[in-house]
Amino acid sequence: MFIKNGWYVAAWGHEIGRELTQRWIIGEPLVLYRTQAGEVVALEDRCPHRRASLSKGRLVGDAVQCGYHGITFDCTGACVHVPGQEKIPSSMAARRFPVVERWQWVWIWMGDPAAADESLLPDFHYNEAPGWVATGGCIPVEANYQLLTDNLLDLTHEAYVHGKTIGNSAIVDVPIEHHVEGNEVHVQRVMRNTPPPPLFKRVRHFEGNIDRWQIIRFNMPAHISIDARGLPAGTDDVSRGLRWFSINSITPIDERSSLYFWTITRCFDLEDEALTKLIGDQIYKTFMEDVEVLEAQQIMIETDQRQQPDVSIRADSGTISARRIVQKLVEESNSTAVRQVASRVAG
Ligand code: FES
Ligand SMILES: [Fe+2]
Repeated sequence: MFIKNGWYVAAWGHEIGRELTQRWIIGEPLVLYRTQAGEVVALEDRCPHRRASLSKGRLVGDAVQCGYHGITFDCTGACVHVPGQEKIPSSMAARRFPVVERWQWVWIWMGDPAAADESLLPDFHYNEAPGWVATGGCIPVEANYQLLTDNLLDLTHEAYVHGKTIGNSAIVDVPIEHHVEGNEVHVQRVMRNTPPPPLFKRVRHFEGNIDRWQIIRFNMPAHISIDARGLPAGTDDVSRGLRWFSINSITPIDERSSLYFWTITRCFDLEDEALTKLIGDQIYKTFMEDVEVLEAQQIMIETDQRQQPDVSIRADSGTISARRIVQKLVEESNSTAVRQVASRVAG
């Protein structure tokens, strides 16, 4: 179940260059590359002639030459050369997908190109804002993308999965507040006078308890930012506090595998490269703890012959709202597609 009319992260900007790169997103094969002017192009990685993989071909200037019979497509997907004949068949074209490069990531619109709307990008500008420094990566995960969004919208698991880094038992005692605005879900947890988790202590050397905030925002299809703050308890002393954003985009490869794009971007000790490395390593380790849980969970869901429904608890309220939004948007786009087919048949 995938939203088509939405932005997905296809790659980090630095991953795409003058070679052909294949990516699968929501079950569709794509070939990505940069033009000589530096613009990122995404075409369907399926040659319209005999469906060979275009990413196995080669770049000729800004055009892609299929490696099977040499038919060539420019960066708009238009066919510009058919070996051995002058005339180009009218339907010989590769499908092109709208692409935007922003905040270090390459975003792709997988649905109707006419509906591509940049105002629907989540606000991830902290990935490269002045006064902030980001570190991050991309983790392949053998699990459905919604298991990852569930995980990020309910952080009570930190107490059980991440006790060595960002979790401790304090989180379990404080219930979340949540509300929905349009297609956004907001989840918040404020923990007062609580012991700092191990990584916070390592990074900011807190001596006593802290006040801690987690302010989470979900945007469709699967983008989640977490504004995490920790200040010495009872103070508003930001200079001795921790504030970072955990920015996450989950790109479904198919129903059971995903790419997990992530950054941690902070606004303190900007020049400290050793600290950047420490945070990057520790957060990667933390996320790999999630991956271990989620990949095992995926197998348990797939092999459940009774297909039992989940039994929900109070902490699931944010994840349930996010899943409802995705379900509603998928149903809406399916009914639009059915209407379009019906009007074509009638016409
Ligand atoms: S399959 Fe691409 S040119 Fe024949
Ligand atoms: Fe986690």
